[in-house]
Amino acid sequence: MDLFEYQARDLFEAHGVPVPGGLVARTPEEAMAAATRIGSPVTVVKAQVKTGGRGKAGGVKVVKSPEAAREAAERILGMDIKGHTVRAVMVAQGIDIAEEYYFSLLVDRAQRNWLAMCSVQGGMDIETLAAEHPDALARVAVDPRVGLDADKAMEIVAAAGFAEADRAGVADLLVRLGEVFVAEDATLVEVNPLVKTGNGDFLAADAKVTLDDNAVFRHPDHAELADISATDPLELAAAERDLNYVKLDGDVGIIGNGAGLVMSTLDVVAYAGADLPGSPSPANFLDIGGGASAQVMADGLGIILSDPSVRSVFVNVFGGITACDEVANGIKQALEMLGDQATRPLVVRLDGNAVEEGRAILAALNHPQIRLAETMDDGARLAAELAVDTAATSRQEA
Ligand SMILES: Nc1ncnc2c1ncn2[C@@H]1O[C@H](COP(=O)(O)OP(=O)(O)O)[C@@H](O)[C@H]1O
Ligand SMILES: [Mg+2]
Repeated sequence: MDLFEYQARDLFEAHGVPVPGGLVARTPEEAMAAATRIGSPVTVVKAQVKTGGRGKAGGVKVVKSPEAAREAAERILGMDIKGHTVRAVMVAQGIDIAEEYYFSLLVDRAQRNWLAMCSVQGGMDIETLAAEHPDALARVAVDPRVGLDADKAMEIVAAAGFAEADRAGVADLLVRLGEVFVAEDATLVEVNPLVKTGNGDFLAADAKVTLDDNAVFRHPDHAELADISATDPLELAAAERDLNYVKLDGDVGIIGNGAGLVMSTLDVVAYAGADLPGSPSPANFLDIGGGASAQVMADGLGIILSDPSVRSVFVNVFGGITACDEVANGIKQALEMLGDQATRPLVVRLDGNAVEEGRAILAALNHPQIRLAETMDDGARLAAELAVDTAATSRQEA
């Protein structure tokens, strides 16, 4: 999960990284109040979007009064920066910047290591710096077992070519950023620019942090950093029910057990739909996992059927640990729970453990929406065709 600058700034502050004062604001009035509270003669109004280059895009404005902060926020809020709509600004204390540097620490998967990058030429786009002045960007491997300690920090600032007099100050800041990286389970911490002020102090004037989603269980407090407004509401509802659900663009709902089977089901359905009118394709990924209960099945079907773009559903289950009769009972219970909500055709392909019992349960159910398919290919084709039919019917009704 990528954080907004103001969130990353707050994490930095919590770990003792020197940062300018900063408050988030969602309206021009809030921005004015924030500038008053920060109280510095100069403040900077900064667009909060999860992309770089805000400065160049006009999303960073230096202002000299709370009233000017209000006006700047009015202009910046609602702005589109590289496809991201600005919904909040951060009002930051204005810094007297003497020099701008670059620093980042990230997980280097290819090297199975961490990598620190640092340059005395900061402020500009790092890709441009790396392309045009590769020598100006020091790359130093950091052993995760040791971490970014004082010695490593001194090695990094020396490699980046900092003046002797500045090295200790910058290194101290880097060690604290290393603490943020470890303590918060980040995969990236980037500061561009890391600045030297007119007084010779060092501050992180921009803050970019990516947190490792696989470590959320260690950080209950990270949950509130998630940008709910940017998450699909169906994905949100699925996450609340602990379902492995990803919304896709198509119209055939997909449920399967095991990520591999669901992935190949997506492929087979897309292939089957390619030559049909409107090219029906998968509407989602949903893995109900092994040993799925009736409740999980009902939750999954409920989510899928609450997606208005879904025109048919393909349930593709290979019984291993999960017995097909349990899955069939799950579908039965799901349909009972859903009642009138089960409005779209459901193609079910069961195979493996207890397949005969499972098929018998569904056959006995004799539900008008259920079609049984013998094979995965047959099921995919039928589900794609039914999506076309449902589309035609709803056009006639409209
Ligand atoms: N608090 C601040 N005080 C003074 N100048 C700032 C402040 N924050 C940012 N700037 C200036 O604005 C530039 C762009 O801001 P930055 O936060 O790096 O956004 P982005 O990287 O998205 O362009 C910085 O390089 C710096 O020169
Ligand atoms: Mg920046």
